[in-house]
Order: sequence, then structure tokens, then C-alpha cells
Amino acid sequence: MRAFRPRTVLGSAASAYIQRPHLHPTPSSPVRTISGLLRRRGASYLRPSIHAPGLSRCYSIDRKSPKPPSFAFAFDIDGVLLHVAKPIPGATQTLEYLQRHNIPFILLTNGGGKHETERVADLSSRLGVPLTTDNFVQSHTPFRELAHGGPAAAEALQDKNVLVTGSDAAECRRIAERYGFRHVITPADILAAHPAVWPFDPLLADLYAATARPLPTPNPKIDAIFVFNDPRDWALDIQIILDLLQSRGGVLGTYSPLNGRADLEGGGWQRDGQPPLYFSNPDLLWSAAYHLPRFGQGAFQAAVAGVWAEVTGGAAPLRRTAIGKPHARTYGFAERVLDAHRAALLDVVPNDDDDDSKPLRTVYMVGDNPASDIRGANEYVSPAGTTWTSVLVRTGVWDPERGGPPAYEPKAIVDDVRGAVAWALEREGWDGEGLK
Ligand code: G3P
Ligand code: MG
Repeated sequence: MRAFRPRTVLGSAASAYIQRPHLHPTPSSPVRTISGLLRRRGASYLRPSIHAPGLSRCYSIDRKSPKPPSFAFAFDIDGVLLHVAKPIPGATQTLEYLQRHNIPFILLTNGGGKHETERVADLSSRLGVPLTTDNFVQSHTPFRELAHGGPAAAEALQDKNVLVTGSDAAECRRIAERYGFRHVITPADILAAHPAVWPFDPLLADLYAATARPLPTPNPKIDAIFVFNDPRDWALDIQIILDLLQSRGGVLGTYSPLNGRADLEGGGWQRDGQPPLYFSNPDLLWSAAYHLPRFGQGAFQAAVAGVWAEVTGGAAPLRRTAIGKPHARTYGFAERVLDAHRAALLDVVPNDDDDDSKPLRTVYMVGDNPASDIRGANEYVSPAGTTWTSVLVRTGVWDPERGGPPAYEPKAIVDDVRGAVAWALEREGWDGEGLK
């Protein structure tokens, strides 16, 4: 059994080092990104050492760092690392332990609503651990691929009109534009141009007035609909989404003559060039600050499908693309990001050991939601042959008192994220010294 005990890589002057703020400050140029964090840790300066491609900003290692092992972790956020804004005990120490030992990990959340750079900066400051976007995937991150076409998308959508909604549709528009979508429309734009589209006083009238932009044409053709995160105004969003799914070719304000044609497949519904509908997160429930789980985007999706069933008389199920955990598309995307991150870590720790080029052997998926985190890891078949092993924590959605045994069986059930990593390290023959 290999008892891994990393040599303290940090002789002060001798070797550049894994920049773990609290481990070893040396006088040199300050690193901008996490200086606030460092100051809190009493580290005054840091010396930027080797920066590897794919390892940007505050993450650098050197030739003497421990070599990244052939296993890694994927951490869910809500219910595992944080309860909304509050760190869960042990989360910070656990991530620090992994960084200190150069064990690759990725943050994989069904949350969203902020651009990755902002969300990671926020997480870094809340958890007190320097994090980067290199190993971070949120619910809508894979939508980025759809802007540019490629394997995930029939056609590049960057020059097409897309409707985007979410908790703050204007913010979602900004994210979509940073992903490369050039013509992004929100429900507020449509309401401002066509107030009669919603025959009631809009709930968020001021917000809509403040964020609406003119439509490119009075009745634009919408080529795709994206739900980035949990919408706030379900009623308006459902009206506008279903208007477009009944339209002729996606043109706002039209109605397809094929709708309800019993002689056509699926009653002719969604058979007239209507825009594809994308949801980023199927979670019905999630672990927020309240003592009981709260409805998530999955509840909104169910509401859209419910109204659609009424509209179509159940003639045709709602055709949509849902990503987010447990969907394989999201696990595949996350595995590619994790592999690239590990490769960057390996890049800097050259070793003639030929298994460097081998893909990850095992990824431990640590989650609080059986229906998304555990099911996703259990069902994901890695094209690279990597084994995803699911570990369920008791700090989030799942509560045996309320829900009985988990609907999807994890490899292990542990108290919290630290317990999850300790369990995995033991399995990997590590002593986990410094974690417990
Ligand atoms: O809205 C976020 C929620 O659905 C769950 O997030 O981090 O537990 O995947 P997370
Ligand atoms: Mg969670």
C-alpha cells in the first residue's frame, strides 16, 4: 500500500512552490487576483513562478511539486461546499489539502446566473481558497459551445437571434454575449416592444423597463431559446416561450398552421421550424439557506411542460434539450475540462513516468443530490474509460429522515465533503495526513 506523504516542497528560497497563500510568502511582485485573500492570510507577497497554459492566474506549481495522481475529484457546490453563500465546515480545508498535494479537482455545479469569472471570484472569496475558471463548470457553461457550432451544435448560433432568460435575464444576456452570442433577446425586450403580449401588469415592470433593448425587427425570427438559470417571472417566461414554440418558423407573433393537425406526426406541434429549447439545470430541488430544499429550474421546466401538455392536449411531449447534472453531456464536458486541467498540472511536473499521458483513472463525484450528482456519475460512461465514482454527503438535499434511502445508490455515503475526500484517499492508499 503506497503511503503517499508529499515532501514539503517549500524550502523557502530554494524552490519556487505551490502558491498556497498560507504556506509560504516570499518578497516579490504581488499577485493581483487574490491579493485580498493573501493579505487576510498574512502573506504579504508572492512570487509568480511557472505559469502553464491552461493554468492561469493564481495557480502555479513547479518542477518539485507532487505529481498529480491518476485520480481526481468533482465537487458539487450547493449542499457540498456552500449553503448558498455560507461555506460548509471542512470545505476550505479540503480544497486546500487537494491544492497542497496537487490533486486535480473541478467544481461542477447546476447553479448559474453569473459569468464563470465572476462566480469563481465570488467562490474564492467565500471559501478563502484561490480558484480559477480552469477547473470550474456551471450549468450553462456548455452553452458556450453552441455559439461557435462544432460537435455540440447543428449550426453556430453566434449570428442568430437567441432568446435568453433566467433569474436576471439581463445578466444572462451579458453572459451569453461573453460566450459569443451576438444577437441576444430577453423577455423584457419583447414585452417592451409588444406590451399586449402579457395582458397583466408585469411583476418586474421596473426591471424590464431598465433592462429592455429594442428588438432587431418588430417581429424577429428566434433561432434558439436558452434558460440559463432559475427564472423569476415564470408566468411571462412561459407565455413567451410557448408563443415561440407555436410560432411559424420561430417568427415572433405568428402561429403555425401545422399546430394540432391530427394527420401529422406529433399533431404537427413543433414541426414548423420552431426554435430549439435548451434548459441548463434539471434540479427539481436544491439545498438553499432554508431548512427544507427549494424548487429549482427543474420545477420551472415541469411547469413549461405542464402548460404545453394542456395546450397540445397531450398530443406531443415538449421537445427540448436539457443539460446539467445528471445528463451525460454535462459530465462529458466536465471530464474534458478536468482532463485539460490535469494535463496542465502534469505539464509543469515533468516526469518520465509514461502513465502521464494516460487519462484519469478515477473521478470521485461528491454531491448532495442523488437525482443529479449521484445518478449522473453512476450512469456516465467515459469515452476515455475513466471511472466516475459517486459519493453522497449528508449536508444538502438528501435527508434519510425525509426521503429514505437515496433514489440513486452512491458508492459511499459520508457526513460531509471532508469525509468524502478522506474516504477516497483511503481507497487510493493515501494516509490523508493533514486533512482530518
Ligand atoms: O440552482 C442550483 C442548484 O440547482 C444546485 O446547484 O451546486 O448543487 O449543483 P449544485
Ligand atoms: Mg448540490
